[in-house]
Amino acid sequence: MNVYDGWRIAAMLEHHGFVRTDAIPDADIIILNTCAVRAKATDKVFSALGRIRRAKKPSALFGIVGCVAREAGATAFRRIPDLNFVLGPQSYHKLPQIIENPDARLLNIDLGGLEKFDQLPQMEKSPLVAYIPIQEGCNHCCTYCIVPYTRGRELSRPFDDCLRETLHAAKTGAIEICFLGQNVNGYKYTDENGKTYRLSDLIRETAKIPEIMRIRFTSSYPTEMTDDLISMFATEPKLLPFLNMPIQSGSQSILTKMNRPYSLELYTDIIRKLKIARPDIQISSDFIVGFPGESDDDFEQTMKIAQQIKYINSYSFKYSPRPHTAAAIMPDQIPENIKAERLAKLDNLLNEIQREFNNSCIDKTFQCLLEGPDKTGRHLIYRTPFMQQCIVDTCNNAPALARVKITAANKASLRGKLE
Ligand code: 5AD
Ligand code: SF4
Repeated sequence: MNVYDGWRIAAMLEHHGFVRTDAIPDADIIILNTCAVRAKATDKVFSALGRIRRAKKPSALFGIVGCVAREAGATAFRRIPDLNFVLGPQSYHKLPQIIENPDARLLNIDLGGLEKFDQLPQMEKSPLVAYIPIQEGCNHCCTYCIVPYTRGRELSRPFDDCLRETLHAAKTGAIEICFLGQNVNGYKYTDENGKTYRLSDLIRETAKIPEIMRIRFTSSYPTEMTDDLISMFATEPKLLPFLNMPIQSGSQSILTKMNRPYSLELYTDIIRKLKIARPDIQISSDFIVGFPGESDDDFEQTMKIAQQIKYINSYSFKYSPRPHTAAAIMPDQIPENIKAERLAKLDNLLNEIQREFNNSCIDKTFQCLLEGPDKTGRHLIYRTPFMQQCIVDTCNNAPALARVKITAANKASLRGKLE
């Protein structure tokens, strides 16, 4: 979502005549697009702001947008007195106000709903993978999570708007569409005639667009993985066989404390149904270790479920207490050293599972999408249908979509040859 917001902000500034630069001393405006989901990310923002204010030219405007802006609000101006703007994730379309009035200070952390989508200029050219946000905010209120506070309650964009943006992306270069939302599979929009549209309707319509060859969506909440959506994996070959469906913990009692009221049976049953619909489907997850009250036994159950489901690509985090959340004031907070120990153990296991899956791909051929050159410029990076990075030697006129035979694997990536 932040990558998408970054694109839109860049497109909006280009519309105002700005050009991009990587050098802070050259910039006339410097924007940090921020994430508040863990304390470490928030702390990094303020240390970066300190560095930026020393390196920038005196006339340059600088500020923050996104969830840290919403979390910090006016206190950001107290911490960095010469900051020019603080704009929450639903008000960054107000940025031109500070360009027109650079001596002012701009603070807007309203939850303005979907207004920003209507007010931002269209992107002229789409990247090969177009992110299309279809839903903002979240109603789930997991007890550890700051997102319902920073991004607000759940809102689904009108179906026609989502399709229009998807079609525009397809006509201007996109080959893959990734639908986005904090709770993407909760997408639900009822139009003026009373007709209700869901994510499965969006996928069905998008699959009809000839330019679009790959479709995916992220992130999914288990209880909203409805049968109509699961059946898409059987009927729409353009839908990639890969799903991010965070479980967060393998312990039923910790899930209850997290206010994630699904049973482990329900979760594993969804995966069983998904495998019937698409036998080669692979799942990725997010995990939190060291949630308040997590015992050794609770943690072992997380290890057990990771082993059982064999997630091929996961993100695991130490629990980080966040303002405005219920878990931050729960008793039995877990000491940092135990969180670190559990994280290392889980990461080891997840890496092992990922390496095993990557090894199983050797000698197989997949249709892969070009991501771009690697840092050395000697290789190209492609993405497999399971979102693995696959590195091939650079060649002239490399196709955007290519059949790649996998020749080698390690934990983090694959090597391959264009067929
Ligand atoms: N501490 C640690 N991880 C968190 N996440 C969300 N809130 C917290 C927190 N307070 C993780 C969840 C979520 C991912 C985006 O970030 O695993 O799925
Ligand atoms: Fe946060 Fe996701 Fe839970 Fe929503 S479902 S509260 S975004 S962790």
